[in-house]
Formats: sequence, C-alpha cells, structure tokens
Amino acid sequence: MDIVGIGLANIDLISHVPESFLSSFKITKGQATKFSDLDFARLRGALPAYDAQAGGCAANTICGLAAAGFSTRFYGKLGDDPFAHTFISGFSAFGVTYDVPSLVGDSSQCAVLITPDAERSFAYTNGASWSLCPEDIDFMELASAGLVYTEIYAMAFGGRRPLWPELVASLRKNKVPLAIKVIDQEYAALYRTALFALAEEGILTMLIGNKDNLKIVSGYEETPDIIAHFQKWNCAVLMTDGRGSVHYMNGAYHEIYKPDVEHTPLNSSGAGDQFAAGFLEGFLHHHSVEACLVNAGRRAKDILIVNAPRPIKYRKI
Ligand SMILES: Nc1ncnc2c1ncn2[C@@H]1O[C@H](COP(=O)(O)OP(=O)(O)O)[C@@H](O)[C@H]1O
Ligand SMILES: [Mg+2]
Repeated sequence: MDIVGIGLANIDLISHVPESFLSSFKITKGQATKFSDLDFARLRGALPAYDAQAGGCAANTICGLAAAGFSTRFYGKLGDDPFAHTFISGFSAFGVTYDVPSLVGDSSQCAVLITPDAERSFAYTNGASWSLCPEDIDFMELASAGLVYTEIYAMAFGGRRPLWPELVASLRKNKVPLAIKVIDQEYAALYRTALFALAEEGILTMLIGNKDNLKIVSGYEETPDIIAHFQKWNCAVLMTDGRGSVHYMNGAYHEIYKPDVEHTPLNSSGAGDQFAAGFLEGFLHHHSVEACLVNAGRRAKDILIVNAPRPIKYRKI
C-alpha cells in the first residue's frame, strides 16, 4: 500500500449560512468547535439546508492521493446509521480500500458552515470515529506502507484502548514515515509537545496545517517567528496561510507560493486537505519543492469552486 490514512470518518453537513448563524451558536469563524450531541442536534435543526457528503480531513486527502494514482487504504470508525453508507460510497468513487467494521452508535458528523466569503467553520460531534483502536488496524500491512497520513485528532482515538502508542511503536519499528495535519486549535495546544517529540525522534516526517493551527503548535503569533521556530524542528513543515502565502520549512526555509484564483471561491472547505494531497503527490514522486507547491496550489484552487471537499474532475500532475 502506498499510503495509509487514519482519521475521522466524518459525514459533512455542508450548509451555506449567514455570518449571524456562527455568532448565534458561539462558533469562531474559520475554526473547529466541538459540540455535545444535544447541542449539535439543535444546530442541525437550525441549518437552513444541508448536503450530507463524505468528509474528514485525512479522508479527503487520501481521496486526493487515490485520484493521483497512489494505492490507498483508510482507517476510520463509522456508526451503524445510514450515514455510514454515505461515507463508504464516498471512497468507492476514488478506489480507496476501506474495510473497518462499524460500531453500534452514531457516525461522526461535522456541520461545515460556509459563510458568504467562502470561509468554512466547523461544528462537530465526536461519534464513532473516536473509537478507532489498535484492533481495527492491519499492522502487518502498515509495516510496509510508503507513508501514514493522519490528522491530529487521531492522537486521541481509542478511549481505553488508545490507538496512538501502538501506532507509533509500529512506525518506529518499521521506519514508516508519518505526516500529520493539525486542524484544531484545542488539540494543537494539547499535543504540541508530543508533536515536537515525534519530530525529534525522526518519526514525524511532515507536519501540515494552516497558520491558525500551526501558530498554536509553535507558540508564536507572527509568521516570521513561527517560521524561525519550525526551522529548528527535525521534520518538514508545510504551513498554508488562507489565501496568501505558503511556507515550507525543512531545516531551512524553502518557498513562498502565492496562489492566483481565477474564479471567486464558493467553498473553501477541503482546500487545505487537497493542498496537502497535491504537495504529497509531488513529494512522493521526488519532485522539487517548488513543483510540489505549484501542484498543491492547483489542487486547492480546483476545490475552491466546487461545493465539496474532494476533487470532482482531476488533472494529472
Ligand atoms: N479564499 C481563498 N482564496 C484563494 N485561495 C484559497 C482560499 N482558501 C484557501 N485557498 C488555497 O488553499 C490553500 C489552503 O487553504 P487554508 O485555508 O490555508 O487551509 P485549510 O483548508 O487547512 O484551512 C491556501 O494556501 C490557498 O492556496
Ligand atoms: Mg482555511
């Protein structure tokens, strides 16, 4: 298997809402906010309309990589509700291998709230995803994977049977590279030291995230300080900055890429996920950093004008 993804098996409820919707539910724009099941049910009832689609940060990136021709598998836990079917069929279109048994309970849901400026804000419930545990993983196959791609939430998966220690032990033993995307400020704060330790040990190959989240990992507010901080990390760091610059650090500071968007963005959900897929596509083919960034920008641009976090049409690198 070229790439194994591990992450949230989310059903996205994509909804275009006015700015006032965010404030009425105390949602910080551009961020991910955790909701109790009851509060989420209230929010869902208040959505003007929504489209339920397969989502999840790592799952979206895995679909982008599958579309690029890599063999891929995804691990994420679903519930036993009709949403599980939506999530599974979201993978078949891309040829991602998926065979994790479902759990009795609800699948994880995420309201993807799109404001008129195309920014996305997330309101999510925990759900079945958080129960993914070591028994769900084929560690024999994982041992020979080319890359494990995951998101920061996976560091908390498994409850009383935590996934993370066994996953890290396997990566350490088999020298499988790991990429992690940071998508939540709360978890960035919780795991920033653990991320640094993984990088120091040479287990974390690439840390990915937008500036809102990586500033929490770095402990600095301003871009030059964040860059200076990550230059000292023993891993590559790919930081996007909304619609502006992109920063790539790998021992030294490498590139800045300013995307040009021909069309007015409709929905920026998944932009960072497909940016990551586009970058990794080039990276795994050993292309130059500049070529990886150009491809990443192209992938992000394609996703901004569709109302989905995954590619619909696809151009080869
Ligand atoms: N509104 C936008 N206009 C133009 N490009 C955008 C916009 N939003 C995202 N992008 C592109 O997608 C990339 C990733 O977006 P970003 O918002 O930083 O990530 P995330 O989706 O993780 O929040 C950006 O670097 C840029 O190339
Ligand atoms: Mg963004």
